[in-house]
Formats: sequence, structure tokens, C-alpha cells
Amino acid sequence: MKDIHADKILILDFGSQYTQLIARRVRELGTFSEIYPWDIGLERIISFNAKGIILSGGPESVTLEDTPVVSNEVLSLGIPVLGICYGMQAIANLMEGEVEESNQKEFGYAKVNVEKGCELLSGLSDHPDKNGKAILDVWMSHGDRVASLPKGFEVIASTESAPIAAIENKERKLYGLQFHPEVTHTKQGEKILGRFIHDICGCSSDWTSANIVHESIKNVKQQVGNDQVILGLSGGVDSSVVAALLHKAIGAQLTCIFVDTGLLRLNEGDQVMETFAEHMGVKVIRVNAEQRYLEALQGVTDPEKKRKIIGNLFIKIFEDESSKLSNAKWLAQGTIYPDVIESAGASTGKAHLIKSHHNVGGLPDDMKLKLVEPLRELFKDEVRKMGEELGLPGAMIYRHPFPGPGLGVRILGEVKKEFADLLRLADDIFISELRATDLYDEVSQAFAVFLPVRSVGVMGDGRRYDYVIALRAVETIDFMTARWAHLPYEFLDHVSRRIINEIDGISRVTYDISGKPPATIEWE
Ligand code: XMP
Repeated sequence: MKDIHADKILILDFGSQYTQLIARRVRELGTFSEIYPWDIGLERIISFNAKGIILSGGPESVTLEDTPVVSNEVLSLGIPVLGICYGMQAIANLMEGEVEESNQKEFGYAKVNVEKGCELLSGLSDHPDKNGKAILDVWMSHGDRVASLPKGFEVIASTESAPIAAIENKERKLYGLQFHPEVTHTKQGEKILGRFIHDICGCSSDWTSANIVHESIKNVKQQVGNDQVILGLSGGVDSSVVAALLHKAIGAQLTCIFVDTGLLRLNEGDQVMETFAEHMGVKVIRVNAEQRYLEALQGVTDPEKKRKIIGNLFIKIFEDESSKLSNAKWLAQGTIYPDVIESAGASTGKAHLIKSHHNVGGLPDDMKLKLVEPLRELFKDEVRKMGEELGLPGAMIYRHPFPGPGLGVRILGEVKKEFADLLRLADDIFISELRATDLYDEVSQAFAVFLPVRSVGVMGDGRRYDYVIALRAVETIDFMTARWAHLPYEFLDHVSRRIINEIDGISRVTYDISGKPPATIEWE
């Protein structure tokens, strides 16, 4: 079995919104990659032992003073370097080229003419021009441009407004692209990155789900030996994949604690038990805590207070249960790579994303258990593929996100069992209709919200005075901004009728047409 970390690409981050996308693309091409801030220092860069380095884009301008640059030595290590956008400008700046503020800023689609005979782009073409020259459709997003070639470089692609749109120094294997190969709008982007990783850097394609699972199992076995491990299982993608992986690695040494808060969706608790305990034979302790949650939340209407109460109670219950397992030495957690990058960014003060939520699973440091985090290196899409590889049901792996506090933040104001029961039914109708019409995967997140106000309606000859359900569906890439999903009217009509007809207690359905910002995705 080959070491799947043997060939790897180092990505130095200059703060581009696309940096994680670059890393994901490299991995999709079968090569492990990691992201570090641009200023980690030469020693760490050398000890990382990469076969190739990618300098990301970034919001800064090299034309100003005190802007981030890597040291010149990074370009002299004999390791191929690819600079993307700001990364290319940084290379140009270091190698005595000139970068200037462009009076024609480019954002969006552009066509670049490719020069013959370059290693990175030759032979790739979206359409030839009338002289037979290759033209590529690419995605540009830049204000500055390289105005004069850096020493030892040649132009390998150009556009009208950026005559130096891509550069190469064949001898030293240094490359720059003004456009973004990592976004899908650049049609040949995957091939371009493939050229760099496989042909120029000589990386293999061993980073596959099957190999990742195999290696993770080996690592977990080595790490925990014969010790007992505890895992907080929520039924979400990450903790589910950790459970399946650890079960495969260490079998009965794993005990999962599943806290059923009573704020889960319809039949969700039973489904978690069915998948893990019944089908897979995982040891799962189910704690039925609905009553405790309802009591703790009684009379509380403030969203932040509700979140705190739900989170703290989870920790209390989890600690009580885990203290009964006195043999346990390890706590497994579903931390994934973006969490690691974000907290690293936070500790150096360079976080671009401020995460406003903590999972309910955030446990105190004084639990005296050592941590095992087998997903620490993986992006969400890799975690999902790992879940498939481990045989978890697709419906579990490809689910929309569900917030830690559950229905607690989807019942506005005070949480009552009666409200939770009505909401569960409405949510289930909405989601199962989305699935039945193949719309579920078209939206990023969809759910129902319970509004504790009553509204008049008529049903047959009778008057009704019942509660209101709001439906919410959004499309988003990063959940930081979102647009409301333009679901078909007929679909909404059908769902609304079903909810009002089938649920005794709901007399009106509304559809939320607020974008984020200014609204958030959840209502509380
Ligand atoms: P908002 O409502 O802030 O939500 O636009 C963005 C994403 O985060 C999820 N969310 C949470 N997740 N604990 C979580 O684990 C929380 O308290 C929480 N609040 C919101 C939300 O479902 C959406 O996907």
C-alpha cells in the first residue's frame, strides 16, 4: 500500500475566497494538498516536502507597500510553483517584473489566447480562432495586471486587456495564471491544474476515497490501540462517518452516545438507531432527554438563551453518560479540515470567515480524554465520499445541514412539545415532497419553521383558528450568503395544501422570500 501523503501540494494562502476550492480541486485530481498562510516561513515550507507549491489569489495589491509576499527563496527551492491571480503578481514582483493597477479591471468571463509550446496550456482549447490559435474560456477576477515580464519568463497566454495573462519559466518550473483555473467557469481548469500537478510536479493520483478509508482505519488502530473510545453521535454527516469508520477500525471498543433532545425531525432518533445499532451493530447508548429539554426551555423565548440552554444541557448529559464509561480513554470528534483551517486562521488573526455558531458538540477541555479526530484532514465532500465507501445510506450522507439546537431554533419563541410535534409533521411533508420531485438536491437547505401565532381559516363549513408554518428553502455555496430558492409555484401550492389538509392545528402556510443578508437562513 502506497503512502497517500507521499506526493503533496502546498497551497500558500493570500486570502482568496477560492483558496479552499484550489485545495479541493487538487485533491479531486488525486493528490493530497494542504493550505497554510502565506507567511509560515521558509523552514516550514521546506519541511512540508511538497512536490509543488501553489500561491493563491488574494484581495491585496502588490503595487502597494507592506503587502504579503513569500520570500524569494520559495521560488528557488527547485519545487515547481504555480501562482494564481495575486499569486502570479507576487511571482512577477519577486522576479523583477512590473505589476500595475489596470484601468480595465476584469471580473467574469474572458477569452485568452494561448501561445504554442508551453507546458501548462499547450494543446488545450475551447475554440480555435481564425488563425488556428487556441482560445480558452476562463474566469478572471482582478484589478491589477502584470505589465512587464519578470526575468526569465515568457508569455503563454494573453487577453486584450491583459497582454500578460499567463507566464512560464520553463527552466525553473515557475508558472503564473492571471485567471482562476479552480473555478468551473474556466472550462479547462481541471486539465490545467492536472497538467501542473501530474505532468509538471510528477504527483501520483493515490488520494482516493478507498485509499483514504484504508489509511484512516490503519491510523486509528495505531492511535488508540486497545483503549475504549467514546463518540457523541448526532446523526449529522460528520459524526456518522466517524462512527462508521471507527466501528470498522476498532469494533466494540467504540461506544456512541446519542442524545435524543426531542428537538429532532420526524422519526430521526429511530432512524439513527436503526442505521447504527441495528444494521451496523455499533454500540449506541440512546439517551431520551426530551423531557429534560422541554423543562429546561420552559418559558424561555430569547433565541440566544435557548441556544445556550440546549448546548449546556447537551454537555451535561454527555458528561454524565461518558463518566459511566470509566474505561474510556479517547473522545472521538468529527472535526473536519475547514474547521482546522479556520481555527488556525483565527489564531494568527487572519481569519476571513468568522464562524458565528458552535456545534452543540463543543465539549469542555477538562474531560481528560485524549482526542481522536479521523476527519481532520478532509473536506466535506471527501467526508461524504468516505461515508459512501463505508456503506452509509445516501440519504444520510447527502442531507442538508441541520443546526445543533435542532427544532429549538425553528420554533419561534417558547419551545413546547405540541409545537415541536406540529413542526415535525409539516417539515416531513415539505422534505419528502422535495425528495419526490427531485428538488431536494437542487436546494442547499430547506425546512419548515413554526410560528406561534394563530390565523383564521375555513375548512369545509367550519372556521379554523390555528397556527402558521413558514417554509424556507435557500441556495448557497458557503451558507454565509444565500438566496431564497425559486421553487415552482405548483410545488409550493401542493405542499401548502398537504400541510393544511393533513395537519390538524395548522391553518396557513407562507414561503420565506428573504435573502441572506439581510435575513439569516434560520429564523432564530
Ligand atoms: P444562519 O441562520 O446563521 O445559518 O444563516 C447558517 C447555517 O448555520 C446553521 N446554523 C447552526 N448550526 N448550530 C449549528 O450547528 C447553530 O446554532 C446554528 N445556527 C444556524 C444553519 O442551519 C445554516 O446551515
